Order: sequence, then C-alpha cells, then structure tokens
Amino acid sequence: MTYKQQINTDKLPSHVAIIMDGNGRWAQQHGKERIYGHQHGVQAVHDVTEAAAELGLGYLTLYAFSTENWNRPQPEIDALMVLLVQTIENETPTLNKNNVRLLTIGNLERLPEQTKIRLQRCIDATSKNTGLSLVLAISYSARWEITKAMTDIAKMASYGGVKPEDIDEEFVARQLSTRNIPDPDLLIRTSGELRISNFLLWQIAYTELYFTDIYWPDFTKEEFYKAIVSYQHRQRRFGKTNEQQQQ
Ligand code: IPE
Ligand code: IPE
Ligand code: MG
Repeated sequence: MTYKQQINTDKLPSHVAIIMDGNGRWAQQHGKERIYGHQHGVQAVHDVTEAAAELGLGYLTLYAFSTENWNRPQPEIDALMVLLVQTIENETPTLNKNNVRLLTIGNLERLPEQTKIRLQRCIDATSKNTGLSLVLAISYSARWEITKAMTDIAKMASYGGVKPEDIDEEFVARQLSTRNIPDPDLLIRTSGELRISNFLLWQIAYTELYFTDIYWPDFTKEEFYKAIVSYQHRQRRFGKTNEQQQQ
C-alpha cells in the first residue's frame, strides 16, 4: 500500500510546516555548486504544495530563508533571492489554478526592493483564493519575531494602549507574524539535522516533530504522505493523560 492510501482523511493536520534543508549537500553529492541544489529544491516545493492542496490542508508553511541565512556568502544570497522571486512568479498561475493563497512571514524589509515588489504582486494575485494558504517564511526567525512583538507591546504600553493584565497568551500570539494562522500540527525537517534553527519557536509548543534523512530536492509527494501517516499514528496529549484523551 502506498503512503497516500494509508492517509486517514478524517484526521488530517490542518497546518504542516517544513524546514526545507539539505540543498547544498544534495548538490555536493551530485558534484555541483550549491545553487544547483537550490534550483532542484524548487520541484519539491511545487510537488509538496500541490500535494497539500490536493489533500485539502489549510496551511503549509515553508522555511525558505532564515535571518541567519543573511550570513551566507553574498553570491549565494543573491542567487537565492533571484530563484525565490522567479519561482514564485512561475508558480503563481498554478497557485491560482489550485486555489492557493500565498502569504509570507519574516522581515521583508531586508529584501532587495525589486524582490519585495515582485513578491507583493504575487501575494496580491492570489489573495482571493480560498483553498490552501501557502506561507513562505522569508528572512524569518522566531527570535526576530518574538523580539518585534515585544517592542510592539512596549510601544502600545507607553502610549497607554495596553495594560499588564491585558497580556495573556492569545494577546502575545496576536502580535506575532502568524496571527490568524493556527499553530502547526506537524513540523517536518529534511536532511537529517535534528534541530529547529530558529523556526516558529512560540508556535511549535505542541507540534509533532518529524525528521527525515532525505535531502530536500529528493523530497517527493510520497515522502510528504509518509510524514502525515507518521503524524496520524501519534497520540497528542497536550499535558493530559492517555485516558483523558480517549474520553
Ligand atoms: C536549505 O538547504 C535551503 C536554505 C537554507 C536556503 P541548505 O542550503 O541549508 O543545504 P545544506 O544544509 O547546506 O545541505
Ligand atoms: C534552516 O536551514 C533554514 C532554512 C531551511 C531556510 P539552515 O541550513 O540554515 O540551518 P542550520 O544553519 O544548519 O541550522
Ligand atoms: Mg542547511
């Protein structure tokens, strides 16, 4: 039986987040430059987005470029920025065909001006779609996001717009860039690294984690289904006992 056939469509995660890692090592394995790996990662992005839309998931968040990735060699950064915007532009008709809405999280102010403009055009072109929300994390890190939320709250407090007793978990969550997006049910990381690398630290408090050794360019729809099947075999307890969960 394929993994796809094993999926229980009544128990789908509503939000899957992915740390797409291993492009550089995939390229090395093929005796090529790192950018060759990034280029091949685009097919996996296409396939997984299509799979998520076909399954009827609500949200797919892809970690495309982290705050720390700004420390990579400038030629790699430049190539990634070009690839990012070209891919999104090429994919926009397919996104529209599949009723996918594009969203972004991250510090977009750091992006080159043209990248920002072209990205915003694609966001606008898909904004009326009602199916899957594809959330691209670009120039994103969880510590950046949490620090920004704190400065925003401090500003509101200094204007008298917020009091300490107003601040609860829902309030904090609303100050993050993921406001209106449910927390991920499942987080996938490819390439065998067992770390979070500053991704969605607040939001993954109760997320199920799935790690695979497969490099991102080799990640197929079937690998995605495999992760979902693994998720569906987990028992999520949220601090309660087994017995309570079964009630
Ligand atoms: C992930 O692949 C893509 C980005 C971080 C942009 P890497 O470029 O990190 O590939 P490895 O980890 O060096 O193999
Ligand atoms: C995490 O991958 C960021 C993205 C996938 C965009 P990295 O390859 O940058 O992570 P580290 O530095 O190895 O932890
Ligand atoms: Mg990496």
